[in-house]
Amino acid sequence: MKILGRTFTRLEIVIHLGAWIPLLLIVFNFFSGSLTVNPIQDIEQRTGRLAILWLVLSLACTPLASIFGWKELIKRRRTIGLYAFMMAFLHVSMFVFLDFGFNWTLIIQEVIEKNFILFGAISFFGLTLLAATSFKYWQKTLKKNWKRLHRIVYVIAPLVVIHYALAKKGNLLTLQGDILRPLIYAVVVTFLLLMRVKPVKLWLKSIWDRLTSGVTSLAARLRPGEETTG
Ligand code: HEM
Repeated sequence: MKILGRTFTRLEIVIHLGAWIPLLLIVFNFFSGSLTVNPIQDIEQRTGRLAILWLVLSLACTPLASIFGWKELIKRRRTIGLYAFMMAFLHVSMFVFLDFGFNWTLIIQEVIEKNFILFGAISFFGLTLLAATSFKYWQKTLKKNWKRLHRIVYVIAPLVVIHYALAKKGNLLTLQGDILRPLIYAVVVTFLLLMRVKPVKLWLKSIWDRLTSGVTSLAARLRPGEETTG
């Protein structure tokens, strides 16, 4: 589809709409006074949930592309990752500007005192590094080290899950507290990381290939009159 002289694929449109609609909804809820009784907390939590969602989506691109052959995901991985950073930036901005009025002494104290904030801060630092070096210039300059650097996402994602679980006052190890959603993310992140391990990747790919060839041969059998050429 052509928009303002640029052609967008269907996936690109879904990605951009998927990122902007929830944010516009927050702005709409803000101006229509339909946020919760604690609007700052509401926005902070919603942007936090959007950030983890986009982070997980960016983590899913490579395994889904290599196992299911959906190659376009590789091209869109950077955009999805940058949206994850944008959501995290908004989330952290809420904390820094609205929660703590830019008071760095109090902010640093909070980061040191509360474990869950510390996990969030480390993850945000990592995401900032990834976003800043996501440009072609850095890819060319850092060469092999660029790939190595971008592997820190495998550490960032679990740290964000821990941040989420602790923010909900839950414990992922003892399965206590409000941890259903953090637990779902923990399972998904673990699965996405496992999908990158070669034997697991090959096993899943072989299942997928068998499944698709089974469907193709079944479809061919259901069309008995069709002539084969060549
Ligand atoms: C300096 C970095 C960060 C700070 C200071 C921070 C701060 C906070 C705070 C204060 C809360 C609790 C909000 C509340 O319930 O009152 C929270 C929750 C949360 N944060 Fe962060 N955060 C940081 C980084 C991140 C990052 C990088 C992500 C994701 C990529 C993230 C995702 C979340 C999520 C999912 C929640 C739970 C939202 C909910 O309660 O539903 N945070 N964060």
